[in-house]
Order: sequence, then C-alpha cells, then structure tokens
Amino acid sequence: MAVRVIEVAEFDLVVFGASGDLAHRKLLPALYHRDADGQMPDDARIIASARRDYSDDDYRDYARKALKEHVSDLDDAHLEKFLKRIRYVKIDIGTGEGFEDLKTVLEEREDVIRAFYLAVGPDLFGTICENLGKISVVNTHSRVVMEKPIGKDGASAKALNATVGAVFNEDQIFRIDHYLGKETVQNLMALRFANALFEPLWNAAHIDHVQITVAESLGTGGRAGYYDTAGALRDMVQNHILQLLCLVAMEPPESMNADSVRDEKLKVLKALAPIGEHNTDKLTVRGQYRAGASAGGAVPGYLEELGNDQSGTETFVALKAEIANWRWAGVPFYLRTGKRLAQRVSEIVVQFRPIPHSIFDEEAGAITANRLIIRLQPDEGVQMKVMIKDPGPGGMRLRQVPLDMSFAEAFKVRNPDAYERLIMDVIRGNQTLFMRRDEVDAAWAWIDPIQAAWAASKETPKGYTAGTWGPSASIALVERDGRTWAEDELV
Ligand code: BG6
Repeated sequence: MAVRVIEVAEFDLVVFGASGDLAHRKLLPALYHRDADGQMPDDARIIASARRDYSDDDYRDYARKALKEHVSDLDDAHLEKFLKRIRYVKIDIGTGEGFEDLKTVLEEREDVIRAFYLAVGPDLFGTICENLGKISVVNTHSRVVMEKPIGKDGASAKALNATVGAVFNEDQIFRIDHYLGKETVQNLMALRFANALFEPLWNAAHIDHVQITVAESLGTGGRAGYYDTAGALRDMVQNHILQLLCLVAMEPPESMNADSVRDEKLKVLKALAPIGEHNTDKLTVRGQYRAGASAGGAVPGYLEELGNDQSGTETFVALKAEIANWRWAGVPFYLRTGKRLAQRVSEIVVQFRPIPHSIFDEEAGAITANRLIIRLQPDEGVQMKVMIKDPGPGGMRLRQVPLDMSFAEAFKVRNPDAYERLIMDVIRGNQTLFMRRDEVDAAWAWIDPIQAAWAASKETPKGYTAGTWGPSASIALVERDGRTWAEDELV
C-alpha cells in the first residue's frame, strides 16, 4: 500500500528549549521530515523560544546547522522553505521576560491550533504553564506537550501534573513517551489485534515467560548531571519499559480510541505484583558500569565519567515482574535495561511453552519451543522461531529456523522517527500514544517501593565491565528459574 500523508490543520507550534539537545537532535529533524513529506499546511509556524539573544535569522542558521547534521536526505531547496516557517522569541522563563512578546506573535492569528512543547527540564514546566495562563494564550485549540521525566517519584509527579492541570485540561495534555511512537511498538498492536493467530495463545497456558531488553552501548553522554539524579529505573523502566510491558500484556481494547487503549494499559500497571523491601533482593538487580571497552574503544567507568566516586546511581537494572491477573499469573516478565552494554538493541521476546508431547524419535533432535521476537531497534522487525524438517534425505531431522520479517527489507520506505508521528498526533489531538495522568501515577506507585527498598538497603549497585551484558547477578536472576536471557537472539 502506498504511503499516505494526511495534511494536518493549521498550527503554531511553540518550542520551549529550542536551543537544547532535544530540539537539535529530534524535534527539528522530525518537523523537517513532516514538512518535506507534505504533511504541514502552508501557513504552519514553528515558534522557537530560548534564552539566547537570537533574531529569527540567527535561529534559522542554528536550525539549518542542526538539520545538516541530523538529516541524511536533506533537500536544500526544501530546507530553505522549511526555515521560513520558523520565528524566534527570546524568553527568560525564570523572570517571565518575553512571554508578552510570545503573546504578540501568537495573536497575529486566531483560530489555529496552538501547541506548546516543553522541551526543557521538568522544574520549568510549572512556571511556563503559569505564564501561559497569565498571558491568556491558552484556548480550546491549545495543547501542551510534556517530555519525561514526569517527576522523580509519585509525589513529585502528582505535584507537576497538578500545576500543569491548573492551566490545561487533561485532554489537552500530551505526555510523551517516545517509545510509543516507534514503528515496531505500534506494530505490536497490529500483530496482536490484526491477526487471529496470536491472541488465543497469548496467555499463561501457552506463554512461558516474556523478556524485554532495552540495551544501550553508549554511556550517559552529556547528561550525567540529570542521569545521576535518576538512574536506570526512573529513566527507562518507569516509562519506556513499563509502556512496552503494557502493550504486550493488555487486554484487547474496545477500539484504538485513546481512552480505550489507556484504560487497558492502566489495568496492567495496577495488576503488577508489588516489589518492595520484602522481595527486592530476590527480584531486582542493580548495576553500575566500570571501565571497559564499548562502541569500539576503551571507555571509563561511570564514576570516572561523573567525577564523583560516591555515586550509588544504577546504570543497569534487571527485574522479574509479575502481572497478577487471570491472563498472566505465574508468567514472569524479565525486564532489563542499561547503559554501556554489549550492543544497542531493544527487543521483546515472547517465549512459548514446549509442545506437550513429541511424536519424533531421539534421532530427530531436540525440539525447541517457539519464540516470537519483536525487534524495536536497530533493525526493526518481527521474527518467529519455528521447528521444521531439515530439507533433503537422511530421515526426519528437526531444526529451528526463524520466519523472519525485517521491515527495512520488506518495505522500501524510510522508517520515520518516533517524534515525527508523535508531534503530528499532538496537532491532530490524538492522545492514543501518550500517557494519561493515572497511568503515570500507577507506574510510579510500582516503582517507588523498589526505589525506597534500594535506598534502605546497604548494598550498592554491582559493578559490570562496560561492553558486557551487565552484572552476573542479572544472569543469575533468570537462571535461578531455569531460563536464560535470549542473548543469541540479540544479533
Ligand atoms: C531516553 C532516556 O528517554 O531514552 C535516555 O532518557 C535513553 O537515557 C533514551 O538513552 C533511549 O532512547 P532510544 O530511542 O535511543 O532508544
């Protein structure tokens, strides 16, 4: 089927933090691509805002540089057309200076969608929203986009949501989890709910366990300051990994309507069996990388990178989660994520149970249980491991082979970045791929006791050499149950 581009309505998108890393690496390239694909109406505007003393043209130069660096198929003619959409307003969020200038620019046109993208630290969300309220630019056509982290625990998330909620209604608030915009994550819904094949088997009777791995080969990069206050549990598990778990485990929603999907995800979060002081030792592993070799060269350890040898922040976490409901009782969900691991790979592995009885004799070889692998990155695709007969004469010899579908090979189209889809969903007002307030609360309600138990324990994160799969305790976590991490799949 041909790629379909649906033009969105006229909009003004205000980006706070327009000179920051997210705007540079993700937002500008995503907007450029949507424009180049013909999705933006003629008069759509991007209003960049930051503290720097830029003119419109200065910021356009900045954006031009960012796009040259981050867009591989840049078309020079289109680039100049795109840059014309950009305006710049200098705002000092701390003092409130510049908000009136923003009002003047916004009021040049009425009745268009106004989206405010908060690409800044969460400590500024409240002040920005209050100021937007004060200058009366929030109307029924407005929306606000919040980047994570939404709080550092349940209490701070509630406070943050309340401040933003005082200015915007819940149906105007878009909490981004960029994992939900990844093609394969959406494919998970297509796989489960557009095929009759999987759903009857999608339960404890047929599935032995599920593994979710989000491994990164890079370290904390230039974000060590933020990362040290967060750690892997808050940075990756509370949001991305729990969202993936929800999509794997949720009941079929009534429709793709935002609340139907989010209602089902919420039920999964609420059914997660609590992990706290009584069982963190058994069910969680924390790690911190030491010097080693990663991404093709020698790298320092986390503490050296941070310049603080006292930090107890985890750069790796492995957990054994359980969903206490009829569908999943007794099926472990092994979750792990970390920085400076052996490679950058994100996968969901659904391990089916073995066949109940074999009709083949020993010479046919061992029968390995089916496995469904949903690969998010780097090469998006789905793989189903099945048993077949080895071709040719020589009797019945069984072998496991992958039924492999790499999306890059199957569809010769550019794979859009998650932000492209998500920003356009904001303009369209479609909240299906965004987190609702109660989902954020429920996720924190599961995470907080783990964090508290770690804080109370005298143990520090276990060291692991950069470039490996994390501390050996993570292997033990799974092997204790007679299982292994599916590392052979991760290549
Ligand atoms: C972000 C985390 O949300 O996701 C980062 O804060 C992490 O620490 C990043 O590196 C991973 O995203 P992706 O899309 O590269 O897998």
